[in-house]
Amino acid sequence: MKYREFGKLGIQGSAFGLGCMRFNGAASGDSVIDEQKAISLIRRAIDGGVTYLDTAYVYLDKTSETVLGKALRDGYRDRVTIATKMPMEYVHNREEMQALLDEELKKLQTDHIDFYLMHGINREKWEYFKSIGAPQFFDDMKREGKIRYKCFSFHGPYEDFEFILNDWDWDMVQIQYNFMDVENQAGTKGLELAGRLGIPVVIMEGLLGGRLANAPENVQALYDAFPVKRSPVEWAFRWLCNHPQIATVLSGCNEPEQIDDNLRIFDTVEPGIMTADELKLIDDVRAAYVSRTKIGCTGCRYCMPCPNGVDIPGIFAVWNSSALYNADPKENFGMKMILKNGATPDKCVACGACEAACPQHLSIIGELQRAWGEMMG
Ligand SMILES: NC(=O)c1ccc[n+]([C@@H]2O[C@H](COP(=O)([O-])OP(=O)(O)OC[C@H]3O[C@@H](n4cnc5c(N)ncnc54)[C@H](OP(=O)(O)O)[C@@H]3O)[C@@H](O)[C@H]2O)c1
Repeated sequence: MKYREFGKLGIQGSAFGLGCMRFNGAASGDSVIDEQKAISLIRRAIDGGVTYLDTAYVYLDKTSETVLGKALRDGYRDRVTIATKMPMEYVHNREEMQALLDEELKKLQTDHIDFYLMHGINREKWEYFKSIGAPQFFDDMKREGKIRYKCFSFHGPYEDFEFILNDWDWDMVQIQYNFMDVENQAGTKGLELAGRLGIPVVIMEGLLGGRLANAPENVQALYDAFPVKRSPVEWAFRWLCNHPQIATVLSGCNEPEQIDDNLRIFDTVEPGIMTADELKLIDDVRAAYVSRTKIGCTGCRYCMPCPNGVDIPGIFAVWNSSALYNADPKENFGMKMILKNGATPDKCVACGACEAACPQHLSIIGELQRAWGEMMG
């Protein structure tokens, strides 16, 4: 296992951090977490050198912290740092923040949390956290030793990220990043900004939730043609670890083989390791993914709101994403929301308001029907 610097904090952590969000059910297909399996996966990772474990109050129907707490008995707690999170939805004042943190400490069976994060914030959520006094609370808890570092995880546009990062003296930040997300969310610009400020960056969704683990044919052909043979997972992690700003790359693993594979990969990677040819391969791989795009919708939302309630950019986003990653659109979270909200193309009356507003001049009316036919047909 390689260990990496945590920016200005003056500590090191394992390059591979175990995400505790994706442990699945028992072999029976039960949706309830298979506790014994999860505990054994966590201990396997720690025995292999992992020192960074990421969980959150809400993960796995609020059972993830409890299972992690059990896994960290028998001396394992002293060998690792724990990151967990405060969800905005559950706190409205200082008393509730205190109660939530105390509950987390109890579930994790520890007297302190190393990295405490405001969970999944954007500008709006940060303003909310400020309005209920969360920064003061985090400062006080740090002084009392209940948390070591005050942090946030981020989902939102780069502008929000820049604002939040400069708005407080954060110790660490967690962002979604992988070779397909260089211009999405915080993106490369955000990673570099954090690096300039000395704020360590922890990565989530390094494999896009597993989607980058199974390359479609045109992408696999590029990997196969490269003189050095590596799996898509290894290429994705190697590319991430090439960035010096990154402290830890989280990966959620469901099987011991995945833990072992990741332990092997993270033993070989460090900042600046990729050659020019390797970097070009990843550029080509990205272009090969993008070439699978179905429609040039940029998600600018000029077409919205649709007078009849069709989620035009949402439908095109699912269409593109499922084509890019060879994934089942019916399993897509965005698709589930579209169906739940009834924002489907059958509501379209072809009024043309969207096409008149689209800066990309897309033939939205026809493309919506084509997208729906391909995805749901
Ligand atoms: N704060 C937030 O808002 C937030 C949001 C998302 C995630 N997170 C955290 O970040 C962690 C990492 O995110 P993630 O779980 O989405 O990570 P990820 O690495 O992008 O995806 C994890 C998935 O990749 C697959 N995988 C992992 N290692 C593999 C290997 N060696 N070979 C083949 N497949 C492999 C598994 O998919 P299969 O299960 O399909 O095999 C696994 O479930 C989470 O567990 C969570 O702790 C936080």
